[in-house]
Amino acid sequence: MSDIPIRKEVEAIKDYIPGKNPTEPGVVKLASNENPFGPSPKSVKAIGEEAGRLQIYPDQKSTRLREALAGKLGVGPENIICGNGSDDIMQVIASTYIEPGDEVIVSKNTFSLYELVTRLFGGKLVLVDLKEAALDLAALAGAVTKKTKVIFLTNPNNPTGTIFTAAEFAAFKKKVPDNVLVVVDEAYAEFAENPDFPNSINYVKEGRNVIVLRTFSKFFGLAGLRVGYGVARPELIAPMFRTKMPFNVNRLAQAGAAAALDDDDFMAKTLQNNGAGKDLLYAELDKLGYKYKKTEANFVFVSTVKPADEVFLELMKKGVIIRPLTSFGFPNAIRVSIGTPEQNKKFLAALASC
Ligand SMILES: Cc1ncc(COP(=O)(O)O)c(C=O)c1O
Repeated sequence: MSDIPIRKEVEAIKDYIPGKNPTEPGVVKLASNENPFGPSPKSVKAIGEEAGRLQIYPDQKSTRLREALAGKLGVGPENIICGNGSDDIMQVIASTYIEPGDEVIVSKNTFSLYELVTRLFGGKLVLVDLKEAALDLAALAGAVTKKTKVIFLTNPNNPTGTIFTAAEFAAFKKKVPDNVLVVVDEAYAEFAENPDFPNSINYVKEGRNVIVLRTFSKFFGLAGLRVGYGVARPELIAPMFRTKMPFNVNRLAQAGAAAALDDDDFMAKTLQNNGAGKDLLYAELDKLGYKYKKTEANFVFVSTVKPADEVFLELMKKGVIIRPLTSFGFPNAIRVSIGTPEQNKKFLAALASC
C-alpha cells in the first residue's frame, strides 16, 4: 500500500477476477465465453490492412463503424457510441450520468462491472436478489425510489444464461418512471434464439430512456480487440462523447469490427455451432446427472455437488479451464462456455471423471 491515500470510493472496489487463460498448448479455455472459432477471417484481413496506417490517430468518433452498425440496427449513427469494449461504455455511462448519492439498481450475483462503475462515481448501490437464478424484473422495478438514477439489466444474464422476455420488459418499463435510465447489457444477444427475446432497440427508436449495450467480444470473436457499443437516443449519446477518452477505439478495432459485420457465413456458423453445442451439453449433462440452466447465451450454468473451486482445479488438471462461480456468489456452480464439438467433448469427458 502506498502512502498516497486512494479515493474512498476506490477502497470499496474489489479486483476484477478474469477467466484464466491457458498457459500450455492443448489446454481448452471455456471460461470467458469467447468464440471458439476465433475472429472472422474478414476481420483478420481488415486488421492486417489497417496495420500499415497505425502512425495516424484513429477516428475519435468511429464514424465508419457506427455507420455500419446503424445500417444493421435500423437506427442512425447519432444513436451509437463505440467503446474499448462494452465495459468502457459502462464507465462512460457512469461518468456521464451517476452523481455521488444517486441510487443505482443492480441485480446480485451477476456481471460485476455495474457495481464497479457505480462505486467509482460515488453512486449508491441498491442490490436486488435474483429469482430462480434469473433477473427479477418485478423486484428491480419495486426497488425504484425518487433517488434512482440508473438500473442495469443483463439480457441474457451472465452467469445463468436466462433471459427476460419482451412482455416482462414491457411490464417493467411501464412500472419504472421515465426519468430513470435503464441500461440493458446485451453482450450475448446475438446468441439468443428464443422468439420472446425483447427487441430493446425498439425502445431506443421510440425515444425512451434506454441504453442498449452490445459487444464484439463474444459472438464476433474479437474479445482481444476490445470493441463494444451503446445504442440510445441521440440526446443520451451526445454527452457521452464528451466524457469518453477521445481515442478509446483504436484503428485496428474500428476496422476489424466493421469487417465482422459483413461476414454472414461466420455468423451463421457461430450460431449453428452454439445451438448444436447446447444440445450436446444438455444431453450429456443429463446422462451424468448434473443440473443446469437452459441457456440463451454461449455458456451453460451447471450446478455442482462438490465446491466449484474444487471442480475447477480438477478440470484444469485435465486440460479444461471453466469458470467457478464462487466470485459470482454461487460456490456450487460452474459456467462453461460452449466450444467446438471437440472442446465440448473434452469438457464432458473431464467432468465425467471428476
Ligand atoms: C454481461 C457482460 N457484459 C459485458 C461484458 C464485457 O464485454 P466487453 O468485452 O465488451 O467489455 C461481459 C464479458 O464477459 C459480460 O459477460
